[in-house]
Amino acid sequence: MSSINYSEKIPNNVNLSEDRTLQRALEQWQPNYLQWWDDMGPDGSQNFDVYLRTAVSVDPQGWAQFGHVKMPDYRWGIFLNPAEKDRKIHFGDHLGEAAWQDVPGEHRANLRRIIVTQGDTEPASVEQQRHLGLTCPSQYDLRNLFQVNVEEGRHLWAMVYLLHKYFGRDGREEGEALLERRSGNQDNPRILQAFNEQTPDWLSFFMFTYFTDRDGKFQLCALAESSFDPLARTTKFMLTEEAHHMFVGESGVSRVIQRTCQVMNELKTDDPGKLRAAGVIDLPTIQRYLNFHFSVTIDLFGADQSSNAAIFYSTGLKGRFEEGKRSDDHVLKGQHYKVLEVQGGQLVEKDVPMLNALNEVLRDDYIKDSIGGVERWNKVIEKAGIPFRLKVPHKAFHRNIGTLSGVKVSPDGRVVHDHEWNQNVEQWLPTDEDRAFVASLMGRVVDPGKFAHWIAPPMMGINRQPVDFEYVRFN
Ligand SMILES: [Fe+2]
Ligand SMILES: [Fe+2]
Repeated sequence: MSSINYSEKIPNNVNLSEDRTLQRALEQWQPNYLQWWDDMGPDGSQNFDVYLRTAVSVDPQGWAQFGHVKMPDYRWGIFLNPAEKDRKIHFGDHLGEAAWQDVPGEHRANLRRIIVTQGDTEPASVEQQRHLGLTCPSQYDLRNLFQVNVEEGRHLWAMVYLLHKYFGRDGREEGEALLERRSGNQDNPRILQAFNEQTPDWLSFFMFTYFTDRDGKFQLCALAESSFDPLARTTKFMLTEEAHHMFVGESGVSRVIQRTCQVMNELKTDDPGKLRAAGVIDLPTIQRYLNFHFSVTIDLFGADQSSNAAIFYSTGLKGRFEEGKRSDDHVLKGQHYKVLEVQGGQLVEKDVPMLNALNEVLRDDYIKDSIGGVERWNKVIEKAGIPFRLKVPHKAFHRNIGTLSGVKVSPDGRVVHDHEWNQNVEQWLPTDEDRAFVASLMGRVVDPGKFAHWIAPPMMGINRQPVDFEYVRFN
């Protein structure tokens, strides 16, 4: 069950060949997917041989095989974690009943919406990142970008498999629509706003993979609890791939910081102007990028109070992060949770029914998790003997969804008037000038073992290869 059949047109561990109708439907979708990859995948990369990992089994040990492949020949396929025998629903109104192997009619519309929304983010991020290969800081980084991209493509496959197998004609139509929407397109945008933003430079890319791929982790963890067993098994395997994306982000930002600190110490200055003239990204600019990506990403969890969130939980479609490790009743009726609102010009906490606040619960779990990496970034700064510290902004800062939407709050959590906001916003969020400066550093470095001036090399290469390994052959 755990090994993957690579002899078929679509690699899979779901016995695809036994379901001819499904196999045919997916084989019809496959060329459309490849056409999408050709149109919207990494710019100008079709002929490159890239040192990629490919899943060969879903076993926790050694599921990956590494080797040079042309990205359009990457074996995208359908990989589910093995079924857990007699798995039971472990939260919501159906607690204790057998997990569903098929979609119950009454939950069909909601499940489809959940799967489509998750699926839409996967190709969206590939589209957002498609030009970055042209300005890569090294071969090592280029390879990591492409690894992330092919795996986001596979995550789209994971969701399209569920749509095709369990949602009939509607599912097939959704599968096509996932290839038709475009990140940032006016007429047919991606579903969620953070996936319509641009990822114009590599600092944005690293922030995105640290913060926004981590949103992916939390959404997938919540879906991995689902009563709909195929969704749970699919998302569990996706999570194993997601870990590398967040590593790319965390280590990427860390290397930018390391390089900046090195130059700060060489020049004995913290003056952003001098540091920019020396070709590195000053720490206040990194803080502004962090503020932007953090705030845009926490919006992805949705409104702080949501009747949909309550329905998704009570009906067993979507659990909480680490639902199985929690010791409450897993039904949550009559329980409360604190959300923020503005009263008399101040942020105050208010108790609301927990079921309606489950988006906020997941957002708070996400925030706890994302702070960890920021602390590790601070260790790099501390080690360099520099007094500056990075900080995630208050969760009410720069929000566009829910009660806090449009309320002007400073990064330290004070409600401010328009005047104060306007006076300080250039200290709080990246300015056009910041973005233009960062863009000006982006040149293409592709000689093996060479790195752009603004970023430190990594500690180690990929899969124990040396840092100066030929990760990409350009042909
Ligand atoms: Fe993904
Ligand atoms: Fe990802």
